[in-house]
Amino acid sequence: MSSTTHKNVILVGGAGDLGKYILTALLADSSFNVTVLTRIDSKSTFPSNAKVVKVDYKDKNEIKKALTGQDVVVSAAGGSAMSEKLDLTLIEASVEAGVKWYIPSEFTADTNHPRFSSLPFIGAKLEAIELLKKNQSRIAHTLISTGGFLDWGFDNGFLGFDVSNHAVTLYDEGKNYISGTTLPSIGKAVVAIIHHPELTLNKRIYIADAVFTQQQALALFEKYSGTKWTVKRITTEDALKQGADYFAKGDIMKGVQAYIMSAIYCQQGASDFRGKTSNDALGVKTVSLEQAVKEAVERSKADATH
Ligand SMILES: NC(=O)c1ccc[n+]([C@@H]2O[C@H](COP(=O)([O-])OP(=O)(O)OC[C@H]3O[C@@H](n4cnc5c(N)ncnc54)[C@H](OP(=O)(O)O)[C@@H]3O)[C@@H](O)[C@H]2O)c1
Repeated sequence: MSSTTHKNVILVGGAGDLGKYILTALLADSSFNVTVLTRIDSKSTFPSNAKVVKVDYKDKNEIKKALTGQDVVVSAAGGSAMSEKLDLTLIEASVEAGVKWYIPSEFTADTNHPRFSSLPFIGAKLEAIELLKKNQSRIAHTLISTGGFLDWGFDNGFLGFDVSNHAVTLYDEGKNYISGTTLPSIGKAVVAIIHHPELTLNKRIYIADAVFTQQQALALFEKYSGTKWTVKRITTEDALKQGADYFAKGDIMKGVQAYIMSAIYCQQGASDFRGKTSNDALGVKTVSLEQAVKEAVERSKADATH
């Protein structure tokens, strides 16, 4: 990999579902000095070659000290860090510490899409973007839109495919386009983005392994699992109502899933990145939908035999 103008990179959430793949990609590139920032009371574990700094996120001075000298902060924080608006705290501390570049914990559909930005749990991401734009003269940013996590979302059913039970929920007949990226590809994309500030600073960058319809994915799932799948159908309008119902009942996990499906599987949905992706410009290789489906079926079969 070529040398970089941004060598000192600190990663937040480096043991998370996504963060561990970003950490692997950063550590594999010898042009970076990589540090992981983690909660003082975190039980997360990290590879032995990662430099780890623990902080109390309630202590701004402690965070500032940890960030001083860093060129780039990459946030892959998740879970309750979202409702606690950790990115806002870290952006403020980064500005004060003189960090050059902040990559917030976006990694989802396009948060600028009207249907996605109006969902009740996107507020923290939008506030982080607003704060970054307000401080653009003091710190650069890059917003990374990845669409659905393809491997993660096939394995846990989040995207509507239940691989072990050969069943699918098709939204709006499964005819609209969504984009998805596997976790290792996101890790590689983050590295490529830091290597190419001339293409990525103060921009939203769209990354995707595959842009596809549910119908296309279903045909591949049936091919690799060797059987017909059971199909349930729902409109994205009804999925939106379901999201609201689940939230009203306090079932936030199901609500988030229904809301996100309503925003991505509608026509010209929030992760329809056709014609917008930067994979080629950044030299980030893609995994085909066929490969992602084949591997998801193989993982499901391996799980069933354990
Ligand atoms: N596109 C998709 O399909 C998709 C799917 C899932 C997630 N996402 C997005 O990906 C990003 C990362 O999500 P993830 O699921 O990988 O996250 P995660 O595994 O739930 O958490 C990542 C890390 O965040 C830190 N963290 C958790 N709670 C915290 C708190 N209260 N305060 C401070 N730090 C906290 C922890 O790091 P330490 O233990 O080291 O402190 C944790 O390992 C988020 O922006 C999320 O919205 C997208």
